[in-house]
Amino acid sequence: MADRSILLFGGGRMGLAMVRGWVAAGFDPAAIAIVEPAPGAALLSFAQSSGCRLNPPLAAREGQAVVLAVKPQMAADLAAPVAALARADTLVLSIMAGKTLRDLGRLFPGVAAFVRAAPNLPAAVGRGMTVALAGAGCSAADRDFAADLLAGTGALLWFEDEALMDVATALSGSGPGYIFYIADCLTQAGIAAGLAEPVAETLARMTLAGAGEMLRVSDRSAADLRRDVTSPAGTTEAGLRVLMADGALQARLTATVAAALARSRELAG
Ligand SMILES: NC(=O)c1ccc[n+]([C@@H]2O[C@H](COP(=O)([O-])OP(=O)(O)OC[C@H]3O[C@@H](n4cnc5c(N)ncnc54)[C@H](OP(=O)(O)O)[C@@H]3O)[C@@H](O)[C@H]2O)c1
Repeated sequence: MADRSILLFGGGRMGLAMVRGWVAAGFDPAAIAIVEPAPGAALLSFAQSSGCRLNPPLAAREGQAVVLAVKPQMAADLAAPVAALARADTLVLSIMAGKTLRDLGRLFPGVAAFVRAAPNLPAAVGRGMTVALAGAGCSAADRDFAADLLAGTGALLWFEDEALMDVATALSGSGPGYIFYIADCLTQAGIAAGLAEPVAETLARMTLAGAGEMLRVSDRSAADLRRDVTSPAGTTEAGLRVLMADGALQARLTATVAAALARSRELAG
C-alpha cells in the first residue's frame, strides 16, 4: 500500500476517521496529504503524531486517490483544485452526502474514475457501515483501491443501483440516531421501574453495545439471536410480547426509514 498516495479534502469528523483508518491499515503516512482550512485540535495532533502532511503545498499530480470529505455545499470549491491535480489515472472518492455520480462528473469533468460512498457515524470508532458505488469509468484496480480506503472505518458493501444509496442513507446513515433514541427510551423505562438515572443509562448503553457487538460478530440472524435469549415463559418473553404486539414497532420503524428516505430524496433534489 506504501506506494499509493492519497489527498484528502476535508479533515472534519469523517475525514479524520478515514485518515486514522488508512494509517491503521498500513498506508504510508508520508503519502497522505490533508487539505483542511480550519484544522481542529484532534486533526493537528493526529497529523503531528502520524506524520501525515497537513496543508502542504500541493504539487501538481498529488494524490493517486483524491478523497472528498467536505460538506456537500462546499463541493464546488473543490472543482478548481481537483482539476489542477487530476491526471488520467486519478481516482476520486466522494463521501459527500447526496452528491450523485452524475453531479461528480459535472463538477470534475477531467476525472474518469469516481466512487461515491456513504459512511455512517460509527466510522469514527472503526465500526462504520459504508455503502459504495463505482462509476462506469472505474477499473477493477480503482474499486480495490477504494475498498482499501473505505474498509479502514468498518464494514463495506458495494451497491450497483444508485437509487438505493438514498435507502442506505435512511437506514444505516440515519440509523445511529434511531439507536441512540432507543437507548434513551430504555433508560427512561429503567428509571420508571425504579433505577437511578446513571444506573439506568449505563445498563441501557452497555446492553445495546453488547447486543450490537454480538450481532456484528455472529453469523446467526437477529431473529435467531433473539430466540436464543427467549426462554419459554421467561422474563424476556414477557417483555417481548409487549414490544412485538401487533407489529406496531415494526410498522413504526418501516415508517421511520420511509420518512428518512423521502427527506434524502428531497435534499438530493
Ligand atoms: N458525519 C456523518 O455521519 C456523515 C455520514 C455520511 C456522510 N457524511 C458526509 O461526509 C462529509 C463530511 O462530513 P463531516 O461530518 O466530516 O463534516 P465536517 O466535520 O464539517 O467536515 C468537513 C470539513 O471540510 C472542511 N472544508 C470545507 N471546505 C473545504 C475546502 N474547500 N477544502 C478543504 N476542506 C474544506 C471543513 O472546514 P470548515 O469547518 O472550515 O468549513 C470541515 O472541517 C459530508 O459531505 C457529509 O455529507 C457524513
